[in-house]
Amino acid sequence: MAEFLVNEAIEDYAFLNTGAEPELLQELIDATNENMGWPQKLSGRLVGRTLAMLAKLTQPKNVLEIGMFTGYSALSIAEGMPDDGKMICCETNPRAIEFAKTFFERSPHGHKIEVIFGRALDTLETLDMELDFSFIDADKRNYLNYYEKVLEMTRPGGLIVLDNVLWSGKVLQPESEIDDVLVEMNRRIAADDNVENVFLTVRDGLNVVRKVR
Ligand SMILES: C[S@@+](CC[C@H](N)C(=O)[O-])C[C@H]1O[C@@H](n2cnc3c(N)ncnc32)[C@H](O)[C@@H]1O
Repeated sequence: MAEFLVNEAIEDYAFLNTGAEPELLQELIDATNENMGWPQKLSGRLVGRTLAMLAKLTQPKNVLEIGMFTGYSALSIAEGMPDDGKMICCETNPRAIEFAKTFFERSPHGHKIEVIFGRALDTLETLDMELDFSFIDADKRNYLNYYEKVLEMTRPGGLIVLDNVLWSGKVLQPESEIDDVLVEMNRRIAADDNVENVFLTVRDGLNVVRKVR
């Protein structure tokens, strides 16, 4: 996962000039760095504040996250949800789930979040809900499958945000099956008249998609 696709000094400048996340999320970052393998999986301030901003603007009631890890992005989105909103988080790592729950218990937004252990594709088959907002951030091999299923479940006007759509720049010269999945998904989104999207070069790339019909 690329940390700096844009010039590192520019990335630092953007970081320093973006409002800080709440203290609990700063603590979550430190605890993730200390206790969990692969702390770089956590999306961080620029992506987290983008998600919080989009959620605050759209106030989604029914939310889905695919790939929760230690709960940073889930809590960022939950900031913008109404108090009776519900977020389903799909996650396969029991240790990450246990860790995230300790922070959800301490957050004023934690009660909005329900975690479902298991492979997201299996979990999606069990869900019967119309989605207002989704964040897709788990195994890239299945990105197109996730996107298509989530698009079906999204109401017109709903948002889908996909992380790592630049895939460390590998989308420019795809070499592996996973690179091809991301290229094909980005191509389909841009070509689909049923959605509007903006492809942001924030960190490793965020594709923000709005279902039109
Ligand atoms: C990049 S991390 C998510 C980071 C998180 N969204 C954040 O921003 O803090 C991806 C997570 O997806 C989980 N994952 C991988 N394959 C999965 C699958 N098939 N179903 C659900 N979760 C999966 C991993 O265990 C990992 O915690």
